[in-house]
Amino acid sequence: MTLPALRLGAATSAYQIEGAVVADGRGVSIWDTLAARPGAVVDASDGTVACSSYDLLQEDLDLLAGLRARAYRFSVAWPRVQPTGSGATNPAGLDYYERLVDGLLDRGIEPLPTLYHWDLPQPLEDAGGWPARDTALRFVDYARVVADRLDDRVRTWSTMNEPWCSAFLGYAAGVHAPGRREPEAAYAAAHHLLLGHALAAQALPGLDVGIVLNLCPVRPEPGFEAVAELVDAIQNRLWLDPLADGGYPQLLLDRSPALADAVQDGDLAAVVGSAAWLGVNYYTPHRPGPDDGALAAPGADSAAFPYAGEFAMHPRGELTTMGWEVDPTGLEQVLLTVAARLPGLPLRVTENGAAWPDLDRDATGAVADPRRIDYLREHLAAVERARDQGAPVLDYLVWSLLDNWEWAKGYTQLFGLVEVARDGRRMPKQSYGWYAGLSGG
Ligand code: FCB
Repeated sequence: MTLPALRLGAATSAYQIEGAVVADGRGVSIWDTLAARPGAVVDASDGTVACSSYDLLQEDLDLLAGLRARAYRFSVAWPRVQPTGSGATNPAGLDYYERLVDGLLDRGIEPLPTLYHWDLPQPLEDAGGWPARDTALRFVDYARVVADRLDDRVRTWSTMNEPWCSAFLGYAAGVHAPGRREPEAAYAAAHHLLLGHALAAQALPGLDVGIVLNLCPVRPEPGFEAVAELVDAIQNRLWLDPLADGGYPQLLLDRSPALADAVQDGDLAAVVGSAAWLGVNYYTPHRPGPDDGALAAPGADSAAFPYAGEFAMHPRGELTTMGWEVDPTGLEQVLLTVAARLPGLPLRVTENGAAWPDLDRDATGAVADPRRIDYLREHLAAVERARDQGAPVLDYLVWSLLDNWEWAKGYTQLFGLVEVARDGRRMPKQSYGWYAGLSGG
C-alpha cells in the first residue's frame, strides 16, 4: 500500500485549555471536583483559567494556521454539552465546538474531535462513574448529540482518550479524577470504557470512529520479566486484545473477578473490530524493576501507581520534567506491534511530545527549546521508519499546541509549541517555527 505523506498537526484537550468552567451553562466535571481536593494537584491549581481557550478561540485558530497544521485534535467537554451527563443538552456548549470546527475548516485544517478526554460530568460519577455500566450507555447518548450537530462537517472522530488513565489512574491509583483507590473498580471501568467506545461507534454509522490508546513497550530490568508481562497486559493487551480478538487476556481475568463480572453477553462481539482507526499516544517505554526508591527516577513512579508496591519504573538517560525517558525506538516498536496486531487498520500518532524546563530565550524573547525540537525530530523519524516497514500511520499530532494545565501536575509541565503566560498571552517558542517549517514553509 502506498501511504500519503505523513500529515502533521497538533493536539490539545478541553479541560487542559478551555478554562471558563462556568460559562454558558457548563456543568461540573470530575476534574473540577478533584482539583478542589487539597493535595490533589501539585501546585493547588485547577482548570478554571487554563489557557482561556474558550474565550481566545480565534487566537488559537490563527496559531494553528501559522503552524501550518493540517489536522487538529481537540476534545469536546461532555459537561458543556450535557451539563448533568444525561438528558437535557446545552446548545451554547455545542455552539462553541461548532465555531471551533468551522474555524478549522475555514483554515483548511481537518478537525479531529475526541469525545471523552477525562472530564466526566460529576452527576455521572455520583451515580457510580465508569465502574457502573450505565455510564457507557450515557456516553452513547452524548456521542449522538455531538455528532448530530457536527457530522455534516466532521468525518473522523475518536471516542475515548487513553482509557488506561481513566480506569487505572482514576479508580485504582486515585491520582486522577475521580480519585478513587479501588483496583477492582478500575477493571470494571476499563470494560465500560471499551463498551462505551464500541456502542458509540455503532451509534455513529457512516463516520470514521476510532479510539486513542496510550501504548508503550515494556522493557523489564533483569528478573522482572513476569512483572513486565503483567504491565504489558494492563497497559497494552487489555485494550488491544478485545479490539483485535474479542477477548481479554487470561492473566487479567485470573487477577480480577470484576473484569469478568462486568462483561455481559454480546459486549465483546461489539468491541471486536469496533475501531475504524487507532490513535496511539506515545511518550516513553516502561522499565519495571525493583521497588527501591533510591534507583527509580523522580516522577517515574507515576506509571507504577496502579501496581503500588510490586515494582518501580527505572527510566534511563535524560528524563523530561515528567520523569519520562526519551526513546523514539519505543514509538517505532509500538507502531509496528499495533500494525501487526490489527493488520490494515489506519493508525494516527494522536499525541507525542516532551515537557522541558524551557528556561532559555533567544534575542526576540521566544523560548529557545532545542531539546523539544530534537525530541520531535527524532520521534518523527521513528514514525517514518515504522511507515517504511508497513505501519499505516496517517497523522502525527504533537502534544501540545499550548503550554497547558497538566492534570495532577497543574501548571508545572510545559509541553507546548507555544508558551502561555498566566494572563493568557501566547508566545510561540522556537519549536513552533521549526514545526511550521516542516510543512513546507
Ligand atoms: C497524556 C494525556 C494528555 C496529556 C499528556 C502529557 O496522557 O492524554 O492529556 O496529559 O499525557
